[in-house]
Amino acid sequence: MNPDLFQSDLQIPRRHVVVFCDDAFGPQSDRWVDLLPEGCHRILPVFDGGFDAALPACRPRVEAFLDAHSSRFDRASSLVVPGGEVAKNDPKVIDSVLASIHSENICRQSFVAIFGGGAVLDAVGFAASIAHRGVKVLRFPTTTLAQDDAGIGVKNGVNHHNEKNWQGVFAVPTAVINDFSLLESLSDRDWRSGFSEAVKVALLKDAREFELLEKHADAIAHRSEAESQRSIIRSAELHWRHIVEGGDPFEDEVARPLDYGHWSAHRLERLSDGDLKHGEAVAIGLGIDAALAVELGHATSEFQHRVLGVLHNLGFTLDHPQLDDPAALFVGIEQFRAHLGGALTLTLVAEPGVSFDIHEADFDLISKAIERHRSMVRTLLV
Ligand SMILES: NC(=O)c1ccc[n+]([C@@H]2O[C@H](COP(=O)([O-])OP(=O)(O)OC[C@H]3O[C@@H](n4cnc5c(N)ncnc54)[C@H](O)[C@@H]3O)[C@@H](O)[C@H]2O)c1
Ligand SMILES: [Zn+2]
Repeated sequence: MNPDLFQSDLQIPRRHVVVFCDDAFGPQSDRWVDLLPEGCHRILPVFDGGFDAALPACRPRVEAFLDAHSSRFDRASSLVVPGGEVAKNDPKVIDSVLASIHSENICRQSFVAIFGGGAVLDAVGFAASIAHRGVKVLRFPTTTLAQDDAGIGVKNGVNHHNEKNWQGVFAVPTAVINDFSLLESLSDRDWRSGFSEAVKVALLKDAREFELLEKHADAIAHRSEAESQRSIIRSAELHWRHIVEGGDPFEDEVARPLDYGHWSAHRLERLSDGDLKHGEAVAIGLGIDAALAVELGHATSEFQHRVLGVLHNLGFTLDHPQLDDPAALFVGIEQFRAHLGGALTLTLVAEPGVSFDIHEADFDLISKAIERHRSMVRTLLV
């Protein structure tokens, strides 16, 4: 061995567990409690304020459950943080979580149990990951989007410098517990939001799933339990497979396929000043990227029509006044390029299950794609 060069490929195994159930604090509790390391663990429950207000019975039930299982859990006082994107915009949220972790004596063997939508999971998960260089996290996602995408991801983070997810870390939660009963109190708007990510991942990876979404879009929009739960599970599985089998869980490569439709979505979310929710912006972003694939000669307008059709039938509004200003949207491409590290890689879809990457996208091309998108949206509405 060279005396002044020590090198090794560090292998750090991580278990990534996602479990689905209907009642995590009733008869099915063994399904997640049995996944935890043995012994008694200090646990800090943190609740999304919007969720807590919409489903007020949940917090006392969780607290009673943890108290009743005192051989496994030593409960700290619950914390409630603001729900929605404000959790990622206001640094005081991170401060309040860190303060609770400190005052409640949460250590590296303890858990922060997060109940919330994608924004609260991202923000509170980020706080937990920097306390003591990483406290263990249990995620209890409470939105469709958090159950079928955000909660599965191994990313945490908050918005900074007026950019989405600028500050954050990769950290794998100890377990993700997707309890369908936590979704009951969602507004129709937040319910719908999660399904654009299901369309996204089906377009990228599973043509058959895309067909099923086309077939059941209306039932999902009407909150049919069977069709919605099946689609959430499949979307979660496709996201999970990408992370655990895709070979790039911490995104060292330049391509980020799961960000299909997101360069414009992230920008639209910012430009609309909260008017568009993440999933709503992703629906528009998928439409723009389908139009882009047609402009590039890789996809047919029939494909574009199918993409817009399923999103329309799910109930998404696919136009937005912000699309009047393609130049403002185009900044999203530059932010994407900067975030990836200089070289642009956008993953697009040519047909369901078939993707390709591009490395250049000029303003003319983007403007034409936006115009093509808007003109097809108009045909859907007549
Ligand atoms: N980390 C990742 O891999 C990843 C992936 C996708 C999206 N995201 C992030 O997720 C966020 C979007 O998440 P979202 O769509 O869950 O929205 P959200 O977290 O903004 O929540 C939407 C609203 O629903 C409320 N809410 C939550 N659960 C509820 C319930 N059961 N009943 C009633 N109200 C409830 C919240 O308080 C909030 O007002 C974005 O910030 C996005 O960037 C992260
Ligand atoms: Zn997303």
